[in-house]
Amino acid sequence: MDPSGKRILVVEDDPGLRFTLTDNLEEAGFSVTAADDGEEAIRLLGTDTFDIVVTDLRLPGKDGLEVLRETKTKTPPPSVITITGHGSIESAVAAIKLGAEDYLTKPFSMEEFLLLLEKVFRVRSLEEENRDLKRRIVSQSLFEELVGKSKGMLEVFDLISVVADTDATVLILGESGTGKELVARALHRRGKRKDGSFVALNCSAIPQSLFEAELFGYEKGAFTGAIRRGMGKIEQAHGGTLFLDEIAEMPPSAQVKLLRVLQERSFTRIGGNENVHVDIRIVSATNKDDLKAMVAEGSFREDLFYRLNVFAIRMPPLRERKEDIPLITDHFIEKLGGARRVSDAAMAMLMDHRYPGNVRELWNIVERASILCREGTIEPKHLPPELPGAGKTSSERLPAEGEILQLKDAVRRFEQDYIQRALKAAGGSRTQASNLLGIGRKALWERIRK
Ligand SMILES: Nc1ncnc2c1ncn2[C@@H]1O[C@H](COP(=O)(O)OP(=O)(O)OP(=O)(O)O)[C@@H](O)[C@H]1O
Ligand SMILES: [Mg+2]
Repeated sequence: MDPSGKRILVVEDDPGLRFTLTDNLEEAGFSVTAADDGEEAIRLLGTDTFDIVVTDLRLPGKDGLEVLRETKTKTPPPSVITITGHGSIESAVAAIKLGAEDYLTKPFSMEEFLLLLEKVFRVRSLEEENRDLKRRIVSQSLFEELVGKSKGMLEVFDLISVVADTDATVLILGESGTGKELVARALHRRGKRKDGSFVALNCSAIPQSLFEAELFGYEKGAFTGAIRRGMGKIEQAHGGTLFLDEIAEMPPSAQVKLLRVLQERSFTRIGGNENVHVDIRIVSATNKDDLKAMVAEGSFREDLFYRLNVFAIRMPPLRERKEDIPLITDHFIEKLGGARRVSDAAMAMLMDHRYPGNVRELWNIVERASILCREGTIEPKHLPPELPGAGKTSSERLPAEGEILQLKDAVRRFEQDYIQRALKAAGGSRTQASNLLGIGRKALWERIRK
């Protein structure tokens, strides 16, 4: 136990005992404040903070139980040790019931006292650690399932933290499968609207003719089949977050109306003229890197683009943050519950791949592999054939980044791989392949045989 910086309040009316306690505690390195009655103690609890309060139960005026009650109004409450007179065990029990950590019965030795104090401190620091741990777990889960430790992802986490708690309109940009929807959900979960709904609308999944009804809702009789009023996504998101996915696909007529929602937080249902006010936060996403180009060519409204793009979060593609691959792979393996680990050779191949489908593609690869592998370890042969070097034994595939071989072995592997490619390009014809490679048919044949 390290007593430095720990603050103890001693409440004791007997001047002799008060002096002994204070003296011993100061000797042990604590910083001590003393009070000689309950009123003084309660006053001190109001102005100072203490880790531990040691209080006599029988005090003139306000007694030790009242001091104890007062400690419970503090956050975090100090731990309390009570001192009871000879034979008054009932009051000690009452104190424990009220939340005192422990008690001492007079007379006691200083040794007993210090031992008890140390015990109380140990419990207290365990509790603190526990609280810290819980806080950390909560803050991690607030990023939802987003895993990553690359510079790119840490920046994304920072941006989420900064903007989540505001009502700012956010545009999430990034290739397909980079986690845009997860970011949108994390923004909702971490913000002040977390108790409201998260309503998602994929703009590319709804036929143009139904789009406005879906987004803005409709009044009874607005069109054939509208037998009662229907609520649109915007209204459903009232008090929460509206996530507009694939925003580039939004039909032009809806774009105008959405602009009004962004400017005035109000809209009218289809077939109605009542102005409906909503309190929503809008987050949108697109995998079109050229939303701006769409603006230039007139297929996306410029004013809407600027309204949506108040705050942009750009998701880095997986190939630009390879250090996240092992972490995400482990995360998926844990979620899938099939395979237990990935062999070094297989991991080297996962690291080498370029992932046009980003994290979603990695997920599919890991899912497939964990079904295929029964031995609990994912090996290269469990990886899909399109991965560089998949389906080959480790002596056949190209050396992975960071894997240094003897030059002649590396050259041999490269040659094998290159000949395979030429054969593939030549549709299996050896004559054509040898032409492509600029070597004789016979030379090619020998190399294939090797
Ligand atoms: N950093 C990450 N950690 C863990 N899982 C992730 C991460 N990023 C994405 N995923 C997972 O990858 C898959 C694709 O993510 P998501 O649907 O959010 O991508 P997207 O960018 O919205 O893709 P699209 O543009 O195709 O809609 C989901 O299963 C998601 O859970
Ligand atoms: Mg998506």
